[in-house]
Amino acid sequence: MSIELQLAESPESFQAVAELHAQGITQGFLSTLGYPFLRTLYKGIAQSEDCGVILAKNDGAILGFISYARDVKTCYVQVIKRHWPSLIWTMLPNIFRPNVYKKVFETLSYPNQQKEIAGETSDLEHEKFRPELLAMAVSQEARGMGVGKLLVEAVDEKISSMGLAGYFVVTHGVDERSNGFYKGRGFEKVREYSHHGNPMNEYYKNLKSSIPYPE
Ligand SMILES: CC(C)(COP(=O)(O)OP(=O)(O)OC[C@H]1O[C@@H](n2cnc3c(N)ncnc32)[C@H](O)[C@@H]1OP(=O)(O)O)[C@@H](O)C(=O)NCCC(=O)NCCS
Repeated sequence: MSIELQLAESPESFQAVAELHAQGITQGFLSTLGYPFLRTLYKGIAQSEDCGVILAKNDGAILGFISYARDVKTCYVQVIKRHWPSLIWTMLPNIFRPNVYKKVFETLSYPNQQKEIAGETSDLEHEKFRPELLAMAVSQEARGMGVGKLLVEAVDEKISSMGLAGYFVVTHGVDERSNGFYKGRGFEKVREYSHHGNPMNEYYKNLKSSIPYPE
């Protein structure tokens, strides 16, 4: 299988990313908000500066995606500034689920909660930025074939090319598959915490292995 990586740009690719997210990341509440919301979110991420959505394709078929940001907060602010009417519109079907609005608020304030730990790193850049792998998923049929590995390598390159020393990723503490995958890809667990009442694990991938993550 020859896998080609490319940036997501078309409406069809945002629909495919929304489907992969909803079907693959079932523990996250974003998946419950529906395809129109996820499409808008990923379009926003793809169009924001220093954030992106990379697709893995084989013969034109989209097998997986990964999204990343140079700084999570800047990325979310840009997405909201540019796409707030569509985001609100696509949230409307959830009007009778008030809990959803609380969770959206908690998600949007998430980068602020992370600043504290980001400021603890020895790299000066992390006092200003929080580089992060935002989400990734590979279709059921294509799992275990190295697609995820290629996608993470693509983000390694993007983050390195921005002159940054590493990046974070957060995953559900109970999800053995993603925890195993990230550990195998060189991420080191740096924190456990609770979000929306769920246990979460935070990992850091040091791209300059001579600088360890500070205890
Ligand atoms: C996690 C996920 C992205 C991995 O993608 P994938 O394409 O199946 O992974 P790969 O085939 O590239 O595996 C790469 C390496 O990770 C290892 N790996 C994959 N799953 C693993 C697991 N559950 N435990 C330990 N190692 C694992 C593979 O053995 C391989 O190692 P190798 O390089 O030594 O051979 C995929 O399973 C997925 O989409 N899961 C659902 C969504 C999700 O959990 N996303 C992450 C949270 S946002």
